[in-house]
Amino acid sequence: MSTSPAAEAARRRTFAIISHPDAGKTTLTENLLLAGGAIRAAGAVRARGENRRTRSDWMKIERERGISVSASVMTFDHDGLMFNLLDTPGHEDFSEDTYRTLTAADAAVMVLDAAKGIEPQTLKLFEVCRLRDIPIVTFINKMDREAQDPIELLDEIASKLALDPAPLFWPAGSGGRFKGMLDLRSQQFVPFSKNRDEGHPDPVAFGGNAIVSYLDPEEQGELEESAMLVQEASKPFDPKSFLEGHMTPVFFGSALRHFGVDQLLAGLGAYAPPPKAVAAVKSGEPTHVAPGDREVTGFVFKVQANMDPNHRDRIAFLRLTSGKFQRGMKLKVQNTGRQLSVNAPIMFFASDRELAEEAFAGDVIGIPNHGVLRVGDSLSESGLLRFAGLPNFAPEILQRVRVKDPLKAKHLKKALEGLAEEGVTQLFRPVIGSDFIVGAVGQLQFEVMADRLANEYQLEVIFEPAPYSEARWLSGEKADVEDFANKHKGAMAADIDEQPVFLAKSSWEIGYVGERFPKVGFERSKERA
Ligand code: G4P
Repeated sequence: MSTSPAAEAARRRTFAIISHPDAGKTTLTENLLLAGGAIRAAGAVRARGENRRTRSDWMKIERERGISVSASVMTFDHDGLMFNLLDTPGHEDFSEDTYRTLTAADAAVMVLDAAKGIEPQTLKLFEVCRLRDIPIVTFINKMDREAQDPIELLDEIASKLALDPAPLFWPAGSGGRFKGMLDLRSQQFVPFSKNRDEGHPDPVAFGGNAIVSYLDPEEQGELEESAMLVQEASKPFDPKSFLEGHMTPVFFGSALRHFGVDQLLAGLGAYAPPPKAVAAVKSGEPTHVAPGDREVTGFVFKVQANMDPNHRDRIAFLRLTSGKFQRGMKLKVQNTGRQLSVNAPIMFFASDRELAEEAFAGDVIGIPNHGVLRVGDSLSESGLLRFAGLPNFAPEILQRVRVKDPLKAKHLKKALEGLAEEGVTQLFRPVIGSDFIVGAVGQLQFEVMADRLANEYQLEVIFEPAPYSEARWLSGEKADVEDFANKHKGAMAADIDEQPVFLAKSSWEIGYVGERFPKVGFERSKERA
Protein backbone atom coordinates (compact mmCIF):
# COMPACT_ATOMS: atom_id res chain seq x y z
CA MET A 1 0.00 0.00 0.00
CA SER A 2 1.25 3.48 -0.80
CA THR A 3 2.16 5.60 2.13
CA SER A 4 2.65 8.90 0.38
CA PRO A 5 1.11 11.67 2.49
CA ALA A 6 -1.29 12.57 -0.32
CA ALA A 7 -2.52 8.99 -0.85
CA GLU A 8 -2.87 8.38 2.88
CA ALA A 9 -4.73 11.65 3.41
CA ALA A 10 -7.09 10.74 0.56
CA ARG A 11 -8.29 7.69 2.50
CA ARG A 12 -9.05 9.65 5.69
CA ARG A 13 -12.60 10.58 6.66
CA THR A 14 -12.61 12.82 9.72
CA PHE A 15 -16.07 13.70 10.93
CA ALA A 16 -18.17 14.69 13.92
CA ILE A 17 -21.75 13.94 14.88
CA ILE A 18 -24.05 16.80 15.78
CA SER A 19 -27.47 16.42 17.32
CA HIS A 20 -29.92 17.65 19.87
CA PRO A 21 -29.76 15.76 23.19
CA ASP A 22 -31.56 12.42 22.99
CA ALA A 23 -31.69 12.20 19.20
CA GLY A 24 -29.33 9.24 19.41
CA LYS A 25 -25.77 10.49 18.97
CA THR A 26 -24.31 8.07 21.50
CA THR A 27 -26.22 5.12 20.09
CA LEU A 28 -25.22 6.02 16.56
CA THR A 29 -21.57 6.46 17.55
CA GLU A 30 -21.56 3.02 19.04
CA ASN A 31 -23.26 1.48 16.04
CA LEU A 32 -20.91 3.19 13.61
CA LEU A 33 -18.01 1.66 15.53
CA LEU A 34 -19.79 -1.66 15.30
CA ALA A 35 -20.38 -1.24 11.56
CA GLY A 36 -16.74 -0.24 11.13
CA GLY A 37 -15.57 -3.37 12.92
CA ALA A 38 -13.98 -1.31 15.70
CA ILE A 39 -16.01 -3.03 18.41
CA ARG A 40 -17.65 -6.42 18.44
CA ALA A 41 -20.84 -5.84 20.33
CA ALA A 42 -23.08 -2.94 21.14
CA GLY A 43 -22.43 -1.85 24.70
CA ALA A 44 -18.67 -2.25 24.37
CA VAL A 45 -18.23 1.49 24.41
CA ARG A 46 -19.31 2.79 27.72
CA ALA A 47 -22.73 4.29 27.23
CA ARG A 48 -22.25 7.96 27.69
CA GLY A 49 -25.53 9.61 26.77
CA GLU A 50 -23.84 12.73 27.97
CA ASN A 51 -26.55 15.05 26.78
CA ARG A 52 -29.00 13.78 29.27
CA ARG A 53 -26.68 13.59 32.18
CA THR A 54 -27.43 15.41 35.34
CA ARG A 55 -24.98 17.86 36.78
CA SER A 56 -23.48 15.33 39.18
CA ASP A 57 -22.93 12.95 36.29
CA TRP A 58 -20.98 15.67 34.56
CA MET A 59 -18.77 16.13 37.56
CA LYS A 60 -18.14 12.45 37.63
CA ILE A 61 -17.20 12.40 33.99
CA GLU A 62 -14.91 15.28 34.50
CA ARG A 63 -13.29 13.30 37.27
CA GLU A 64 -13.02 10.17 35.26
CA ARG A 65 -11.02 12.08 32.73
CA GLY A 66 -9.79 8.95 31.08
CA ILE A 67 -13.16 8.20 29.59
CA SER A 68 -13.65 11.57 28.05
CA VAL A 69 -10.08 11.63 26.78
CA SER A 70 -10.38 8.37 24.93
CA ALA A 71 -13.84 9.29 23.71
CA SER A 72 -12.69 12.56 22.19
CA VAL A 73 -11.71 10.83 18.98
CA MET A 74 -12.35 7.32 17.80
CA THR A 75 -10.35 5.95 14.94
CA PHE A 76 -11.18 2.89 12.89
CA ASP A 77 -9.99 1.36 9.69
CA HIS A 78 -12.78 0.07 7.47
CA ASP A 79 -13.12 -0.81 3.82
CA GLY A 80 -9.73 0.63 2.96
CA LEU A 81 -10.55 3.92 4.64
CA MET A 82 -9.46 5.40 7.93
CA PHE A 83 -12.34 7.00 9.83
CA ASN A 84 -11.75 9.48 12.63
CA LEU A 85 -14.91 10.19 14.58
CA LEU A 86 -14.62 13.28 16.73
CA ASP A 87 -16.80 13.51 19.77
CA THR A 88 -18.53 16.80 20.46
CA PRO A 89 -19.88 17.59 23.90
CA GLY A 90 -23.63 17.72 23.77
CA HIS A 91 -24.33 20.14 26.57
CA GLU A 92 -24.84 23.64 25.27
CA ASP A 93 -22.68 25.12 28.03
CA PHE A 94 -19.77 23.53 26.23
CA SER A 95 -20.58 25.06 22.86
CA GLU A 96 -17.17 26.65 22.55
CA ASP A 97 -15.54 23.28 22.93
CA THR A 98 -17.86 21.92 20.24
CA TYR A 99 -16.99 24.78 17.97
CA ARG A 100 -13.30 24.03 18.32
CA THR A 101 -13.82 20.34 17.73
CA LEU A 102 -15.71 21.10 14.55
CA THR A 103 -12.69 23.02 13.27
CA ALA A 104 -10.93 19.67 13.20
CA ALA A 105 -13.74 17.87 11.30
CA ASP A 106 -14.03 17.66 7.53
CA ALA A 107 -17.69 16.62 7.62
CA ALA A 108 -20.53 16.25 10.08
CA VAL A 109 -23.36 13.79 10.50
CA MET A 110 -26.51 15.52 11.66
CA VAL A 111 -28.73 13.12 13.58
CA LEU A 112 -32.42 13.94 13.71
CA ASP A 113 -35.04 12.20 15.78
CA ALA A 114 -37.64 11.17 13.18
CA ALA A 115 -40.46 12.20 15.50
CA LYS A 116 -39.01 15.58 16.38
CA GLY A 117 -37.18 16.84 13.32
CA ILE A 118 -34.89 19.80 13.78
CA GLU A 119 -34.56 20.82 17.42
CA PRO A 120 -32.93 23.94 18.90
CA GLN A 121 -29.51 22.44 19.59
CA THR A 122 -29.42 20.87 16.11
CA LEU A 123 -29.94 24.31 14.65
CA LYS A 124 -27.21 25.89 16.77
CA LEU A 125 -24.67 23.24 15.86
CA PHE A 126 -25.69 23.37 12.24
CA GLU A 127 -24.95 27.07 12.20
CA VAL A 128 -21.44 26.37 13.45
CA CYS A 129 -20.95 23.87 10.62
CA ARG A 130 -22.19 26.37 8.11
CA LEU A 131 -19.81 28.99 9.42
CA ARG A 132 -16.99 26.64 8.64
CA ASP A 133 -18.48 25.28 5.39
CA ILE A 134 -18.53 21.75 6.74
CA PRO A 135 -20.56 19.43 4.51
CA ILE A 136 -23.39 17.70 6.34
CA VAL A 137 -24.80 14.21 6.01
CA THR A 138 -28.26 13.75 7.53
CA PHE A 139 -29.29 10.63 9.41
CA ILE A 140 -32.97 10.46 10.34
CA ASN A 141 -32.98 8.18 13.35
CA LYS A 142 -35.56 6.21 15.33
CA MET A 143 -37.58 5.09 12.31
CA ASP A 144 -38.59 2.10 14.43
CA ARG A 145 -40.74 4.55 16.37
CA GLU A 146 -43.72 6.53 15.16
CA ALA A 147 -42.17 9.22 12.94
CA GLN A 148 -43.24 12.41 11.23
CA ASP A 149 -44.09 12.22 7.55
CA PRO A 150 -40.63 11.93 5.91
CA ILE A 151 -41.58 14.49 3.27
CA GLU A 152 -42.30 16.97 6.04
CA LEU A 153 -38.94 16.21 7.59
CA LEU A 154 -37.24 17.03 4.29
CA ASP A 155 -39.28 20.23 4.03
CA GLU A 156 -38.10 21.19 7.48
CA ILE A 157 -34.45 20.66 6.50
CA ALA A 158 -35.00 22.82 3.43
CA SER A 159 -36.83 25.62 5.22
CA LYS A 160 -35.03 25.78 8.57
CA LEU A 161 -31.51 25.10 7.35
CA ALA A 162 -31.69 26.39 3.79
CA LEU A 163 -30.12 23.12 2.64
CA ASP A 164 -31.31 21.00 -0.27
CA PRO A 165 -32.16 17.57 1.12
CA ALA A 166 -31.33 14.75 -1.29
CA PRO A 167 -32.71 11.45 0.03
CA LEU A 168 -30.60 8.45 -0.96
CA PHE A 169 -33.04 6.06 0.70
CA TRP A 170 -36.74 6.21 1.29
CA PRO A 171 -38.50 4.58 4.26
CA ALA A 172 -41.43 2.20 4.12
CA GLY A 173 -43.57 3.20 7.09
CA SER A 174 -42.38 3.89 10.61
CA GLY A 175 -42.90 2.63 14.16
CA GLY A 176 -44.73 -0.70 14.29
CA ARG A 177 -45.26 -0.49 10.53
CA PHE A 178 -41.61 0.18 9.68
CA LYS A 179 -40.62 -2.35 7.04
CA GLY A 180 -37.33 -1.06 5.72
CA MET A 181 -36.19 1.35 3.06
CA LEU A 182 -35.71 1.63 -0.64
CA ASP A 183 -32.28 2.47 -1.98
CA LEU A 184 -33.31 5.14 -4.47
CA ARG A 185 -30.23 4.67 -6.59
CA SER A 186 -30.08 0.90 -6.92
CA GLN A 187 -33.83 0.24 -6.47
CA GLN A 188 -32.94 -2.42 -3.92
CA PHE A 189 -35.21 -2.78 -0.95
CA VAL A 190 -33.44 -3.05 2.42
CA PRO A 191 -35.71 -5.01 4.79
CA PHE A 192 -35.92 -4.18 8.49
CA SER A 193 -36.19 -6.90 11.07
CA LYS A 194 -37.59 -6.05 14.47
CA ASN A 195 -35.46 -8.68 16.04
CA ARG A 196 -32.02 -7.25 16.27
CA ASP A 197 -30.37 -10.51 17.21
CA GLU A 198 -31.20 -12.23 13.97
CA GLY A 199 -29.84 -9.31 11.92
CA HIS A 200 -31.57 -7.66 9.01
CA PRO A 201 -32.21 -9.67 5.84
CA ASP A 202 -30.18 -8.92 2.73
CA PRO A 203 -31.55 -6.36 0.28
CA VAL A 204 -33.80 -7.60 -2.53
CA ALA A 205 -34.75 -6.08 -5.88
CA PHE A 206 -37.79 -3.83 -5.40
CA GLY A 207 -39.50 -4.99 -8.58
CA GLY A 208 -38.59 -8.68 -8.11
CA ASN A 209 -40.43 -11.65 -6.64
CA ALA A 210 -38.67 -11.66 -3.29
CA ILE A 211 -40.18 -8.34 -2.25
CA VAL A 212 -43.47 -10.02 -1.33
CA SER A 213 -41.78 -11.53 1.70
CA TYR A 214 -41.40 -8.03 3.14
CA LEU A 215 -44.11 -5.80 1.70
CA ASP A 216 -47.69 -6.58 0.81
CA PRO A 217 -48.98 -5.19 -2.51
CA GLU A 218 -50.55 -2.20 -0.81
CA GLU A 219 -47.31 -1.32 0.98
CA GLN A 220 -45.38 -1.75 -2.26
CA GLY A 221 -47.75 0.64 -4.01
CA GLU A 222 -47.45 3.20 -1.22
CA LEU A 223 -43.67 3.03 -1.21
CA GLU A 224 -43.46 3.26 -4.98
CA GLU A 225 -45.72 6.28 -5.04
CA SER A 226 -44.07 8.19 -2.20
CA ALA A 227 -40.59 7.42 -3.52
CA MET A 228 -41.60 8.74 -6.93
CA LEU A 229 -43.12 11.82 -5.40
CA VAL A 230 -40.08 12.68 -3.33
CA GLN A 231 -37.72 12.17 -6.25
CA GLU A 232 -39.79 14.52 -8.37
CA ALA A 233 -39.88 17.08 -5.59
CA SER A 234 -36.21 17.01 -4.61
CA LYS A 235 -33.01 17.62 -6.49
CA PRO A 236 -30.89 14.57 -7.28
CA PHE A 237 -27.85 14.14 -5.09
CA ASP A 238 -24.99 16.23 -6.40
CA PRO A 239 -21.67 15.56 -4.63
CA LYS A 240 -20.33 18.97 -5.59
CA SER A 241 -23.27 20.79 -4.08
CA PHE A 242 -22.88 18.66 -0.94
CA LEU A 243 -19.19 19.54 -0.62
CA GLU A 244 -20.02 23.20 -1.04
CA GLY A 245 -22.50 22.96 1.82
CA HIS A 246 -25.67 23.52 -0.21
CA MET A 247 -27.02 19.99 -0.19
CA THR A 248 -27.28 17.18 2.33
CA PRO A 249 -27.67 13.50 1.44
CA VAL A 250 -30.37 12.01 3.65
CA PHE A 251 -30.20 8.54 5.21
CA PHE A 252 -32.86 6.87 7.33
CA GLY A 253 -32.54 4.22 9.99
CA SER A 254 -32.62 3.10 13.56
CA ALA A 255 -29.32 3.38 15.34
CA LEU A 256 -30.63 1.30 18.22
CA ARG A 257 -31.59 -1.57 15.91
CA HIS A 258 -28.43 -1.15 13.88
CA PHE A 259 -30.46 -0.43 10.78
CA GLY A 260 -29.29 1.96 8.08
CA VAL A 261 -25.95 2.37 9.85
CA ASP A 262 -23.92 0.32 7.36
CA GLN A 263 -25.42 2.42 4.56
CA LEU A 264 -24.55 5.63 6.40
CA LEU A 265 -20.97 4.50 6.89
CA ALA A 266 -20.70 3.52 3.22
CA GLY A 267 -22.13 6.95 2.32
CA LEU A 268 -19.53 8.68 4.47
CA GLY A 269 -16.83 6.65 2.79
CA ALA A 270 -18.12 7.48 -0.67
CA TYR A 271 -19.06 11.14 -0.27
CA ALA A 272 -17.53 12.72 2.83
CA PRO A 273 -14.45 14.64 1.79
CA PRO A 274 -10.89 13.69 2.64
CA PRO A 275 -8.81 16.45 4.26
CA LYS A 276 -8.37 19.48 2.07
CA ALA A 277 -5.84 22.28 1.86
CA VAL A 278 -5.98 24.66 4.80
CA ALA A 279 -5.33 28.40 4.81
CA ALA A 280 -2.34 29.42 6.89
CA VAL A 281 0.18 32.19 7.37
CA LYS A 282 3.87 31.51 6.88
CA SER A 283 6.30 34.17 8.04
CA GLY A 284 3.59 36.77 7.70
CA GLU A 285 2.51 35.71 4.20
CA PRO A 286 -0.79 33.98 3.48
CA THR A 287 -0.38 30.46 2.13
CA HIS A 288 -2.11 27.09 1.86
CA VAL A 289 -1.05 23.83 3.39
CA ALA A 290 -2.03 20.80 1.29
CA PRO A 291 -2.44 17.33 2.87
CA GLY A 292 0.26 15.97 0.58
CA ASP A 293 2.87 18.59 1.52
CA ARG A 294 6.10 17.16 2.87
CA GLU A 295 6.26 19.23 5.99
CA VAL A 296 4.35 17.83 8.95
CA THR A 297 1.91 20.42 10.25
CA GLY A 298 -1.16 20.53 12.45
CA PHE A 299 -3.11 22.49 15.03
CA VAL A 300 -4.25 21.82 18.57
CA PHE A 301 -8.03 21.98 18.86
CA LYS A 302 -8.47 20.53 22.29
CA VAL A 303 -6.47 20.08 25.46
CA GLN A 304 -7.52 17.83 28.24
CA ALA A 305 -6.05 17.14 31.62
CA ASN A 306 -4.89 13.61 31.93
CA MET A 307 -6.71 11.07 34.01
CA ASP A 308 -4.10 10.98 36.73
CA PRO A 309 -4.45 14.12 38.86
CA ASN A 310 -1.12 13.43 40.55
CA HIS A 311 0.68 14.11 37.35
CA ARG A 312 -0.29 17.43 35.90
CA ASP A 313 0.30 16.30 32.38
CA ARG A 314 -2.23 17.00 29.74
CA ILE A 315 -3.09 15.63 26.38
CA ALA A 316 -3.21 18.02 23.48
CA PHE A 317 -5.25 16.84 20.51
CA LEU A 318 -3.40 17.67 17.33
CA ARG A 319 -5.26 17.55 14.06
CA LEU A 320 -2.67 16.90 11.38
CA THR A 321 -2.95 18.97 8.24
CA SER A 322 -0.04 17.72 6.15
CA GLY A 323 2.93 15.42 5.83
CA LYS A 324 3.80 12.05 7.24
CA PHE A 325 4.09 12.24 10.98
CA GLN A 326 6.42 9.73 12.60
CA ARG A 327 6.87 8.97 16.24
CA GLY A 328 9.84 10.70 17.79
CA MET A 329 9.61 13.59 15.41
CA LYS A 330 10.42 17.13 16.54
CA LEU A 331 7.74 19.74 16.05
CA LYS A 332 7.84 23.42 16.82
CA VAL A 333 5.09 25.57 18.28
CA GLN A 334 4.67 28.62 16.08
CA ASN A 335 3.88 31.31 18.63
CA THR A 336 6.35 30.33 21.34
CA GLY A 337 9.06 28.83 19.12
CA ARG A 338 9.33 25.94 21.57
CA GLN A 339 10.34 22.62 20.15
CA LEU A 340 9.05 19.32 21.39
CA SER A 341 9.97 15.75 20.59
CA VAL A 342 6.79 13.84 20.11
CA ASN A 343 7.86 10.51 21.55
CA ALA A 344 4.60 9.18 22.88
CA PRO A 345 1.84 10.28 20.49
CA ILE A 346 -1.42 8.49 21.12
CA MET A 347 -4.06 7.33 18.71
CA PHE A 348 -7.46 6.46 20.06
CA PHE A 349 -9.19 3.33 18.96
CA ALA A 350 -12.65 2.39 20.21
CA SER A 351 -11.59 1.19 23.60
CA ASP A 352 -7.82 1.32 23.42
CA ARG A 353 -5.12 3.86 23.08
CA GLU A 354 -2.07 2.98 21.09
CA LEU A 355 1.19 4.66 20.36
CA ALA A 356 0.97 6.22 16.94
CA GLU A 357 3.97 5.18 14.87
CA GLU A 358 2.83 7.30 11.97
CA ALA A 359 -0.10 9.50 11.10
CA PHE A 360 -1.26 11.65 8.21
CA ALA A 361 -3.42 14.66 7.42
CA GLY A 362 -6.90 14.12 8.81
CA ASP A 363 -5.66 12.07 11.75
CA VAL A 364 -5.79 13.25 15.31
CA ILE A 365 -2.98 12.35 17.68
CA GLY A 366 -2.89 12.98 21.39
CA ILE A 367 0.34 14.54 22.61
CA PRO A 368 1.03 14.24 26.33
CA ASN A 369 2.77 17.40 27.58
CA HIS A 370 3.23 19.50 30.67
CA GLY A 371 1.48 22.66 29.65
CA VAL A 372 3.63 23.38 26.60
CA LEU A 373 0.71 23.02 24.23
CA ARG A 374 -2.44 25.09 24.25
CA VAL A 375 -5.67 25.19 22.34
CA GLY A 376 -5.10 27.01 19.06
CA ASP A 377 -1.38 26.27 18.84
CA SER A 378 0.01 25.60 15.37
CA LEU A 379 2.73 22.98 15.15
CA SER A 380 5.08 22.29 12.29
CA GLU A 381 8.60 21.11 11.59
CA SER A 382 9.75 24.59 10.64
CA GLY A 383 7.72 26.32 13.34
CA LEU A 384 6.83 28.99 10.82
CA LEU A 385 3.24 28.09 9.99
CA ARG A 386 0.22 29.46 11.71
CA PHE A 387 -3.32 28.28 11.06
CA ALA A 388 -6.10 30.76 11.49
CA GLY A 389 -9.55 30.25 12.78
CA LEU A 390 -9.56 29.04 16.36
CA PRO A 391 -11.26 31.92 18.04
CA ASN A 392 -12.05 32.62 21.65
CA PHE A 393 -15.53 33.99 22.15
CA ALA A 394 -16.52 36.68 24.59
CA PRO A 395 -17.88 34.85 27.63
CA GLU A 396 -21.50 35.27 28.55
CA ILE A 397 -21.01 35.06 32.31
CA LEU A 398 -18.20 36.71 34.27
CA GLN A 399 -17.46 35.87 37.88
CA ARG A 400 -14.85 36.79 40.40
CA VAL A 401 -13.07 33.83 41.90
CA ARG A 402 -11.48 33.67 45.32
CA VAL A 403 -9.78 30.86 47.17
CA LYS A 404 -11.05 30.15 50.68
CA ASP A 405 -7.56 29.78 52.11
CA PRO A 406 -5.71 33.04 51.38
CA LEU A 407 -2.37 31.26 51.71
CA LYS A 408 -3.17 29.41 48.54
CA ALA A 409 -3.63 32.46 46.33
CA LYS A 410 -0.50 31.74 44.33
CA HIS A 411 -1.64 28.21 43.80
CA LEU A 412 -4.94 29.50 42.48
CA LYS A 413 -3.23 31.56 39.81
CA LYS A 414 -1.45 28.52 38.41
CA ALA A 415 -4.58 26.39 38.54
CA LEU A 416 -6.70 29.02 36.78
CA GLU A 417 -4.08 29.44 34.11
CA GLY A 418 -3.99 25.70 33.59
CA LEU A 419 -7.75 25.52 33.13
CA ALA A 420 -7.75 28.52 30.82
CA GLU A 421 -5.04 26.91 28.71
CA GLU A 422 -7.23 23.86 28.40
CA GLY A 423 -10.03 26.12 27.23
CA VAL A 424 -12.33 25.14 30.12
CA THR A 425 -12.92 28.77 31.08
CA GLN A 426 -11.37 32.10 30.19
CA LEU A 427 -9.22 34.00 32.61
CA PHE A 428 -8.96 37.77 32.96
CA ARG A 429 -6.53 39.48 35.30
CA PRO A 430 -7.69 43.02 36.10
CA VAL A 431 -4.99 45.66 35.75
CA ILE A 432 -5.91 47.03 39.18
CA GLY A 433 -6.42 44.69 42.13
CA SER A 434 -5.50 41.10 42.72
CA ASP A 435 -8.73 39.30 41.94
CA PHE A 436 -9.19 36.99 39.04
CA ILE A 437 -12.21 37.17 36.80
CA VAL A 438 -13.24 34.01 35.00
CA GLY A 439 -15.58 33.89 32.07
CA ALA A 440 -17.67 31.10 30.62
CA VAL A 441 -20.49 30.49 28.20
CA GLY A 442 -22.66 28.63 30.70
CA GLN A 443 -23.08 28.13 34.43
CA LEU A 444 -22.15 24.47 34.21
CA GLN A 445 -18.61 25.41 33.20
CA PHE A 446 -18.13 27.16 36.55
CA GLU A 447 -19.32 24.11 38.38
CA VAL A 448 -17.03 21.81 36.47
CA MET A 449 -14.25 24.27 37.17
CA ALA A 450 -14.93 24.40 40.93
CA ASP A 451 -15.05 20.63 41.03
CA ARG A 452 -11.77 20.25 39.19
CA LEU A 453 -10.07 22.90 41.31
CA ALA A 454 -11.12 20.97 44.41
CA ASN A 455 -10.19 17.53 43.12
CA GLU A 456 -7.12 18.16 41.05
CA TYR A 457 -5.63 21.17 42.79
CA GLN A 458 -7.07 20.82 46.31
CA LEU A 459 -8.40 24.36 46.15
CA GLU A 460 -11.73 25.35 47.62
CA VAL A 461 -12.96 28.36 45.71
CA ILE A 462 -15.81 30.79 45.97
CA PHE A 463 -17.37 32.45 42.96
CA GLU A 464 -18.80 35.90 43.46
CA PRO A 465 -20.68 38.08 41.05
CA ALA A 466 -18.28 40.29 39.14
CA PRO A 467 -19.25 43.90 38.60
CA TYR A 468 -18.99 43.28 34.86
CA SER A 469 -21.26 41.55 32.44
CA GLU A 470 -19.34 41.81 29.18
CA ALA A 471 -15.76 41.33 28.03
CA ARG A 472 -14.40 42.72 24.77
CA TRP A 473 -10.98 42.41 23.22
CA LEU A 474 -9.56 45.70 22.05
CA SER A 475 -8.30 46.17 18.53
CA GLY A 476 -6.85 49.05 16.59
CA GLU A 477 -3.62 51.03 16.41
CA LYS A 478 -1.37 50.45 19.40
CA ALA A 479 -1.42 54.11 20.44
CA ASP A 480 -5.23 54.29 20.32
CA VAL A 481 -5.63 51.09 22.30
CA GLU A 482 -3.11 52.26 24.90
CA ASP A 483 -4.80 55.63 25.18
CA PHE A 484 -8.14 53.93 25.80
CA ALA A 485 -6.62 51.48 28.27
CA ASN A 486 -4.94 54.26 30.25
CA LYS A 487 -8.19 56.17 30.54
CA HIS A 488 -10.10 53.09 31.67
CA LYS A 489 -7.59 51.38 33.93
CA GLY A 490 -10.28 50.37 36.39
CA ALA A 491 -12.07 48.32 33.76
CA MET A 492 -9.08 46.87 31.97
CA ALA A 493 -7.77 43.34 32.25
CA ALA A 494 -5.29 41.10 30.50
CA ASP A 495 -6.27 37.72 29.15
CA ILE A 496 -4.07 34.66 29.27
CA ASP A 497 -2.12 35.86 26.23
CA GLU A 498 -1.61 39.27 27.87
CA GLN A 499 -3.99 40.86 25.39
CA PRO A 500 -6.01 43.85 26.60
CA VAL A 501 -9.63 43.23 27.46
CA PHE A 502 -12.25 45.80 28.38
CA LEU A 503 -14.63 44.64 31.08
CA ALA A 504 -17.93 46.46 30.76
CA LYS A 505 -20.86 46.71 33.13
CA SER A 506 -23.35 46.44 30.29
CA SER A 507 -23.56 46.29 26.53
CA TRP A 508 -24.84 49.85 26.70
CA GLU A 509 -21.48 50.89 28.17
CA ILE A 510 -19.66 49.29 25.24
CA GLY A 511 -21.76 51.32 22.83
CA TYR A 512 -21.11 54.45 24.86
CA VAL A 513 -17.31 54.12 25.01
CA GLY A 514 -17.29 52.92 21.43
CA GLU A 515 -18.76 56.24 20.31
CA ARG A 516 -16.17 58.18 22.26
CA PHE A 517 -13.26 56.07 20.99
CA PRO A 518 -14.17 55.39 17.38
CA LYS A 519 -10.66 54.22 16.50
CA VAL A 520 -10.78 51.36 18.99
CA GLY A 521 -12.52 48.12 18.13
CA PHE A 522 -14.40 46.16 20.80
CA GLU A 523 -14.26 42.58 19.60
CA ARG A 524 -16.54 39.73 20.60
CA SER A 525 -14.01 37.14 19.60
CA LYS A 526 -10.31 36.94 19.13
CA GLU A 527 -8.03 34.60 17.34
CA ARG A 528 -4.93 33.44 19.11
CA ALA A 529 -1.95 35.46 17.98
P1 G4P B 1 -27.86 11.25 22.69
O1 G4P B 1 -26.47 10.73 22.80
O2 G4P B 1 -28.10 11.97 21.40
O3 G4P B 1 -28.34 12.02 23.86
O4 G4P B 1 -28.85 10.02 22.59
P2 G4P B 1 -28.69 8.49 22.99
O5 G4P B 1 -27.92 7.77 21.96
O6 G4P B 1 -28.25 8.41 24.39
O7 G4P B 1 -30.19 8.02 22.84
C1 G4P B 1 -31.25 8.62 23.56
C2 G4P B 1 -32.35 7.59 23.76
O8 G4P B 1 -32.88 7.23 22.50
C3 G4P B 1 -31.88 6.29 24.40
O9 G4P B 1 -32.99 5.74 25.11
C4 G4P B 1 -31.63 5.41 23.19
O10 G4P B 1 -31.70 4.03 23.49
C5 G4P B 1 -32.77 5.85 22.29
N1 G4P B 1 -32.50 5.59 20.88
C6 G4P B 1 -31.41 5.94 20.16
N2 G4P B 1 -31.55 5.53 18.88
C7 G4P B 1 -32.76 4.94 18.79
C8 G4P B 1 -33.46 4.32 17.73
O11 G4P B 1 -33.03 4.22 16.60
N3 G4P B 1 -34.69 3.82 18.04
C9 G4P B 1 -35.23 3.90 19.28
N4 G4P B 1 -36.44 3.38 19.46
N5 G4P B 1 -34.58 4.47 20.31
C10 G4P B 1 -33.36 4.99 20.07
P3 G4P B 1 -33.21 5.88 26.66
O12 G4P B 1 -34.30 4.95 27.04
O13 G4P B 1 -33.40 7.30 27.01
O14 G4P B 1 -31.85 5.43 27.28
P4 G4P B 1 -31.26 3.98 27.43
O15 G4P B 1 -31.74 3.54 28.75
O16 G4P B 1 -31.78 3.14 26.30
O17 G4P B 1 -29.80 4.20 27.36
